[in-house]
Amino acid sequence: MRVQGVAASLADVIPIGDIHVAPSMLSADFGHLADAVETIASETSWLHIDVMDGHFVPNLTIGPPVVASLRRESSLFFDCHLMMTNPERYLEAFARAGADLCSVHVEIGKTDQLIDQMRALGLNVGLVLSPDTPFSVAAPFLDRIDLLLVMSVFPGFGGQSFMPEVLPKISEARDAIRNGRHQVLIEVDGGVDRATAPLAAIAGAQVFVAGNAVFGADDPCAAIVAIRDAVTTSLAAR
Ligand code: DX5
Ligand code: ZN
Repeated sequence: MRVQGVAASLADVIPIGDIHVAPSMLSADFGHLADAVETIASETSWLHIDVMDGHFVPNLTIGPPVVASLRRESSLFFDCHLMMTNPERYLEAFARAGADLCSVHVEIGKTDQLIDQMRALGLNVGLVLSPDTPFSVAAPFLDRIDLLLVMSVFPGFGGQSFMPEVLPKISEARDAIRNGRHQVLIEVDGGVDRATAPLAAIAGAQVFVAGNAVFGADDPCAAIVAIRDAVTTSLAAR
């Protein structure tokens, strides 16, 4: 049985070089979250959880109590995307609630301190770049993080259109990670569907967050398969 508060190792969940579709709970029915999570569990082991504080972004979602409730229902890898100005106040609560990975935005600063805090809590460590933030801001931290999340929409809302202008940034990150032999996954988030995921995959992304494309579909599992197949096909055709 999974011990609450002990994060799953990212390397066990997804080997570097593998690909993963990470459904975003933001587009699920919040009245039936446990059902939504159970629905996708047959097709993926990864759940992206968007946490918004109404300050860093102009929207509010959920916090540690909801993560803790879902943890009792699910053994999926919980990837908590913290769109918050002050995540340091809540990281311990997310770790206790059963988060496996927390990602913090580099735009808020405090990155050194936040990485240390997440490591001390046993969390896998993610850094997030908003569309306007260059890769160079995250580059100094590649040897200390597990995941780099490149936003392909401005954070705050689901259902927006993918911004192809972030693709060069994904490639820049991929090259730096390869050249430095860093063990860092690249995740892309925002407007990802079966048409846009292959673009991000060819640029270098390995984890594909999809909210609307999965939970807005009649058959969420079929949508996950379609995105994964589209990525696999595009990578094979290179
Ligand atoms: C946006 C969130 C995303 C969002 C993605 O701020 O970080 O995770 O849920 O939703 P779609 O896939 O609908 O763009
Ligand atoms: Zn997100």
